[in-house]
Amino acid sequence: MRTERLLMRPWRDEDRVPFAALNADPVVMEHFPAPLSRSDSDAFVDRIEAHFAEHGYGLWALEDDSGFLGFTGLSWATFDAPFNPSLEVGWRLARTAWGKGYATEAAVAAVRRGLQDVERITSFTSLTNVRSWRVMERIGMRRDSEFEHPRVPEGHPVRRHVLYVADRDSWPTPA
Ligand SMILES: CC(C)(COP(=O)(O)OP(=O)(O)OC[C@H]1O[C@@H](n2cnc3c(N)ncnc32)[C@H](O)[C@@H]1OP(=O)(O)O)[C@@H](O)C(=O)NCCC(=O)NCCS
Repeated sequence: MRTERLLMRPWRDEDRVPFAALNADPVVMEHFPAPLSRSDSDAFVDRIEAHFAEHGYGLWALEDDSGFLGFTGLSWATFDAPFNPSLEVGWRLARTAWGKGYATEAAVAAVRRGLQDVERITSFTSLTNVRSWRVMERIGMRRDSEFEHPRVPEGHPVRRHVLYVADRDSWPTPA
């Protein structure tokens, strides 16, 4: 998929090195339990590629004129929560790609694509991850509730999460 400034595409092997670098960046991973090792990062790419093979959509690799930036896209969430299984929109960009509106631009395209297949898209992040839930608000998602993420250890500062939703019949569909 193409947006005004971005290409959202399948993954290539050469994306794995810059993806591992951003997954090892403690600032990018500040609101996750821990940064990822190279092997954990590669295993994540394997899961992303399997998701594309199964569903035909997924966490697209994002690039601008300068090359690979990270991902934005769709992923089925199945962890134990009342709103799951749900199709989640998510994003993770290298620090050099922040502050340009790229996540917002790509997320609008992802939500639009997702709502072709399902009635509701979810998005969630640690309550501390203000940058991320600001993307959810900018793209017209509605804040729904808070929950404890069952895959984050109890007592960990990023365990409390906020849930946003976009419903097909009420999402404002930004241009
Ligand atoms: C979450 C994340 C993608 C948000 O990045 P971001 O740059 O803040 O968000 P956007 O790409 O939508 O850009 C918005 C910013 O660009 C600015 N901007 C500049 N040019 C813009 C343009 N043409 N259009 C829109 N916004 C623009 C906006 O003013 C805003 O800046 P501000 O936050 O200082 O007000 C990024 O912080 C990230 O990758 N974090 C690590 C991974 C992560 O936590 N992922 C989410 C886990 S659930």
